[in-house]
Amino acid sequence: MPQPVTIRYSTTAIAFHWLTAALVLIGVALAWLLDSTETAAERNALLAIHKSVGILIFGLAWLRVGWRLTHRPPALSEPQPWWQALAAWATHMALYLITLTMPISGYISAAARGRKTDFFGLVDIPQWVPLDRSLSTLTEEIHEWSSLALYALVILHLLAVLYHQLVQEDGLFDRMWPKAWTFKSPANSEELPVSADY
Ligand code: HEM
Ligand code: HEM
Repeated sequence: MPQPVTIRYSTTAIAFHWLTAALVLIGVALAWLLDSTETAAERNALLAIHKSVGILIFGLAWLRVGWRLTHRPPALSEPQPWWQALAAWATHMALYLITLTMPISGYISAAARGRKTDFFGLVDIPQWVPLDRSLSTLTEEIHEWSSLALYALVILHLLAVLYHQLVQEDGLFDRMWPKAWTFKSPANSEELPVSADY
């Protein structure tokens, strides 16, 4: 039986994680709602918020990657089987990557078609790409395929957390849960110390 996890992520890493997760869920929900709008004005308003949320994710993703490159995640109490460590690493890297690339494909698909992007109505994002319909179509398709990849990655990510919680029973979720919020897995009877590293 694996030992409970012993070290939690730092408050900064936890804040980055849950802020990103919440914004990704909001961005995706807004994109799904686009099809149920009744007027073009309604659709454009939702799309403008979708784009702004996406830009926020983009900025946060760079800060987060910077943090990750300079801070090591806390080690697990016990080494995992190699395939599990590799699967976790690959999923996490892919999640970092997709939060960096999806905003780019989204921006190019709109800009190459001459559609303006602003950040919550406060700052206009310049037109960095030429008007080019085939570039717009290509990046639109990339954005759409990326959204499918994102769904698959998030499902995989959640299944892995559930596997740790319910099968390995090592209380892994607590590592990423804010200390001040009281949830604690049965595996961790003691409060987890904070990582000095990450
Ligand atoms: C909404 C439900 C989610 C839950 C319950 C969840 C839970 C977790 C947990 C428990 C960890 C720690 C894994 C460990 O200790 O090794 C983790 C790590 C991570 N999560 Fe999530 N997560 C969620 C959503 C997301 C989303 C939407 C993203 C990004 C789009 C994301 C990206 C990541 C990344 C990149 C890491 C790795 C951190 C690192 O060690 O570098 N998560 N997540
Ligand atoms: C990580 C950030 C982002 C995520 C997760 C995301 C996700 C999505 C999703 C799930 C869709 C619906 C795809 C479909 O099934 O057709 C979509 C559509 C779209 N997104 Fe994003 N997006 C992000 C960032 C952006 C950004 C930054 C922009 C532009 C600046 C953008 C512009 C668009 C546009 C123009 C559409 C197509 C709407 C349509 O005409 O149907 N997205 N996005």
